[in-house]
Amino acid sequence: MTDLRYAPRPEDKFSFGLWTVGWQGVDVFGPASRALLDPVEATYRLAELGAAAVTFHDDDLLPDEDEREATLARFRKALDETGLVVEMVTTNTFSDPLFKEGAITANNREVRRYALAKVLRNIDLAASLGAETFVMWGGREGAEHGGSKNVGAALDRYRDALNIVCGYVKDQGYALRFALEPKPNEPRGDILLPTIGHALALIDELDHPELVGLNPEVGHEEMAGLNFAHGISQALWHGKLFHIDLNGQHGPRFDQDLRFGAGNLRGAFWTVDAMLGAGTDRRYDGYVHFDYKPPRAEAVDGVWESARACMRNYLILRERVRAFRADPEVAAALEAAGVGELDVPTVAPGESLDDVRGASYDLEALRGRSVAMEALDQLAMEHLLGAR
Ligand code: GCO
Ligand code: MN
Ligand code: MN
Repeated sequence: MTDLRYAPRPEDKFSFGLWTVGWQGVDVFGPASRALLDPVEATYRLAELGAAAVTFHDDDLLPDEDEREATLARFRKALDETGLVVEMVTTNTFSDPLFKEGAITANNREVRRYALAKVLRNIDLAASLGAETFVMWGGREGAEHGGSKNVGAALDRYRDALNIVCGYVKDQGYALRFALEPKPNEPRGDILLPTIGHALALIDELDHPELVGLNPEVGHEEMAGLNFAHGISQALWHGKLFHIDLNGQHGPRFDQDLRFGAGNLRGAFWTVDAMLGAGTDRRYDGYVHFDYKPPRAEAVDGVWESARACMRNYLILRERVRAFRADPEVAAALEAAGVGELDVPTVAPGESLDDVRGASYDLEALRGRSVAMEALDQLAMEHLLGAR
């Protein structure tokens, strides 16, 4: 029986990478465990499941130059028939062995120029399909060997490439924005722009910083032991949460790309809370995009079950988060924990530093004060567990 409470709707703006359900299970220890899924067929299937949009790398949809136009025609027909849109496009600058040592930051200049040409061609495609976001994940931009990569020069070339693509989009009049996707490692031993913070810092150095934001992925921050909800909250604070990759991860280990909600479930609760604004006006209003891999052990039934579960888990968590935020006991617990007081500036307008220095502070009372945060957290836990 379908449970209509958690049925996806167009306004939920769910989106899937075609490479997610299309992943055949190739890993470092073995070949494909599933048959090739036609990306156009996958588009119809995702529409049936309730997605509103799809995304892809150039090579997911168009691996074969000879069939490019025919596949694009079939794909456009699928979009027309289903009402799905392409909200984001990204470029594969990591699979071809020529990118083995990097793409736009490879030591080899020919490789960098070829990578740039591949990205520019894909930007034209993205614009022609009406995409609003262009993701750049530099999976091969990095190193395994100390001394093999001049990090400063690599960042110069990263910056140059971003300046070039931003200039191109402006010249062409495309309504596209770029979103950098941080990741600490895998496939490279160490990847450049390893976290949200590193990527934000690079954006400040660009000619058109307003055109460049982030596409953070749950698993990538958690691989580094970082708190994803805090990371996206900071990205929102900078006005840079242009896109998101939702999935699941069990702590610091290889990039698991589990379905959303699997792995760190409490992290997923706070992720949805942060996306909804965490009780503030600073919320994410873009597509809710899933970048996960149906586990290699699953056959095709498990592929579709995991896709359905990503959306269902998001909707269940959204319901729990809303209930948490609407609960009067939570409002009282937030008050008791002094959460709202952080909105008050430390030094108010009109006050002088002498007012701060000259005030008397009851240090013993401050040391012994209640912070009441366990009580608040327990309420969140109970909402998450369905006990309230
Ligand atoms: C990963 C990455 C990729 C990127 C995608 C976009 O598997 O580690 O998340 O899936 O999101 O390649 O370019
Ligand atoms: Mn990943
Ligand atoms: Mn991703």
